[in-house]
Amino acid sequence: MGRDRVMGAERTPLIAGNWKMYKTEAQSEGYIQALLPRVSSVSGVDIAVCVPYTDLRAMVDSARGSRVEVYAQNMHHEPQGAFTGEISALMLSELDVAGVVLGHSERRQLFGETDKALALKVPAALEAGIAPILCVGESEEERDEGETERKLRHQIGEDLAGVRDERLAEVTIAYEPIWAIGTGRVATPEQAQEAIAFVRALVGGRSPAAAEQVRILYGGSVKPDNAAELLELPDVDGALVGGASLEAESFAAIVAAAQS
Ligand code: 13P
Repeated sequence: MGRDRVMGAERTPLIAGNWKMYKTEAQSEGYIQALLPRVSSVSGVDIAVCVPYTDLRAMVDSARGSRVEVYAQNMHHEPQGAFTGEISALMLSELDVAGVVLGHSERRQLFGETDKALALKVPAALEAGIAPILCVGESEEERDEGETERKLRHQIGEDLAGVRDERLAEVTIAYEPIWAIGTGRVATPEQAQEAIAFVRALVGGRSPAAAEQVRILYGGSVKPDNAAELLELPDVDGALVGGASLEAESFAAIVAAAQS
């Protein structure tokens, strides 16, 4: 690790809220009405909320014309087929869904999401015009054993294998150390910067231009009171926020931290 920051890049920060399996459609409506006025004067920050499938249509309609984009939390790589319970990029794009979270550690750990599947999903999302946020990150055990870089190299290598170099910069990568997710144990600024610079260098190994442009977010116990110190790090281009995105007020406070 310890590579120098790639200089000269102008990357717009992205603050994305991952609701996980929270909020019914009715609950989502109150949230977006509370969020929109709080972020209406924000500039220079992209904002996304990644919501359950059942909330997508209402959220897209309510957020239309605002600076808030609506993302899904998973998708299948095929446009259609005999895949009971799955949703395709085509289905998302017809709803005007802007993007999708892929490879979240909860999907990897609890639902058997594989690197092989992600190698198909990431290019399928790009092909359909759905912006992918690819999540990567090590477990506590892997970090303790000094395996963080190996894990990141493996995930980045496998999951982006199907993306052509020219399109690499269109993928947003979220570095989410599993031990920091939902635990209140946020990575230190040094840990976040080091891992994210390493991920950027991995992308640079394929395309130096893409490494300058690709957005890499930090995720894991981001809160209004720790967001600023993470977001000011040279290689951190935003945050993927779980728990603190569930209240419009705290999510808006993290957006504000990205602006300043
Ligand atoms: P928390 O912010 O609740 O730790 O969740 C992080 C996360 O998993 C976002 O995808």
